[in-house]
Amino acid sequence: MFMRVDRLQTELPIPKAPNPNAAAALQELLGGKYGEMSTLNNYMFQSFNFRSKSKLRPFYSLVASITAEELGHVELVSNGVCLLNNGPGDPEEDVDISEAPFADMQDIRLAASFLSNGGGAMPMNSNGTSWNMDFVTTSGNVIFDLLHNFHLECGARLHKLRVYETMTEPTGREVCGYLLVRGGVHAHAYALALKKLTGVDIEKMLPTPNINLDKIPECAKYLEEGSHRRLYRFSPDDYSEMSGIWGKGEKALPGDPPGALEVVDGLPDGGKIPELEGTPSAFTPDYAPEEFYEIATKLYKKSR
Ligand SMILES: [Fe+2]
Repeated sequence: MFMRVDRLQTELPIPKAPNPNAAAALQELLGGKYGEMSTLNNYMFQSFNFRSKSKLRPFYSLVASITAEELGHVELVSNGVCLLNNGPGDPEEDVDISEAPFADMQDIRLAASFLSNGGGAMPMNSNGTSWNMDFVTTSGNVIFDLLHNFHLECGARLHKLRVYETMTEPTGREVCGYLLVRGGVHAHAYALALKKLTGVDIEKMLPTPNINLDKIPECAKYLEEGSHRRLYRFSPDDYSEMSGIWGKGEKALPGDPPGALEVVDGLPDGGKIPELEGTPSAFTPDYAPEEFYEIATKLYKKSR
C-alpha cells in the first residue's frame, strides 16, 4: 500500500516570471524515456512482480522503497512544470476574451500544455510525445533488472545534466539539482546491490556522465546535509533490510563529501506544495470561481 503526504520532497523557489519553454524542457525529466515516470514504473512493477521476496528481502526492499521516492519525484517535477507554465497571459476575471489575453501562448513550444492542460504537467516528454510502457523493463531476472535500473539512473543523470545546461530559471535548476543528488544515490544503490550479488565493483563506473555534483551550485545544500548518503524507507515499519546493501561500512562515492551510507527511517522533511492561483480568464477553475470558493469554504467549515 501507499500512504500520501501533502508535501513535496524539497521546497521549490517560486518563479519571478512564467517560462513555458523552460517547463517544456522539464517535461523531459517527467515523461522522457529516462524521466521520473520511467524510474517510477520500472521499480514499481519490478517490486510487484518480484519472486522470492522473503529470500531476497534486502534487494526487494531496495527496489520497493526507491519506488516510493520516485512517485514523489513525479510529483516534484510536475510541480516545477506547473510553476513555470503559469502564464504568460492575462489571468484577470474581467478581461475581455475577444482581446486575445493569451496571445503569447501561440509562441510556446508545447502549446497543448496551455490549450489542453491549462498549464498543468503531463506524462509526456519535452516534445509532447506520450510516455509509454515500452520504457519499462521487468524481466523477472534480478541481475538483469538491477542492471537495467543502474543504466536507467545513469541515463536519467545524463538527461538531467542536459536539461540543467539549458536552464537559467531557479525553479527548474532546483528540480535538476535535487534530482541529480537523489539520482546519484539510486545509481550508487543499484551498483552496490549488483556488487553484493556478483562481486563486480560496478560503483567504480560512477559518476556517469563523469561530472561531480560539486560543479552544480544547486546541489551544494543537499550535499551539505548528506542527502547523497541517505536512502529513505518511506514507511513506518518496513524495508529496513536494504541497510545490508546501503550501509554496513559502505561509503559515499570518492567525488562526493565523505561519510558512511545510511538508511533513514520514514521520509525526508521536504517542503510545502506550491499554491497556484486560479486563472478565471482561462476557465480554471472556471470563469466565475466565487461560487466554487464559497461551496468549498462551507464544506471545509463542516469538516472541522
Ligand atoms: Fe527519480
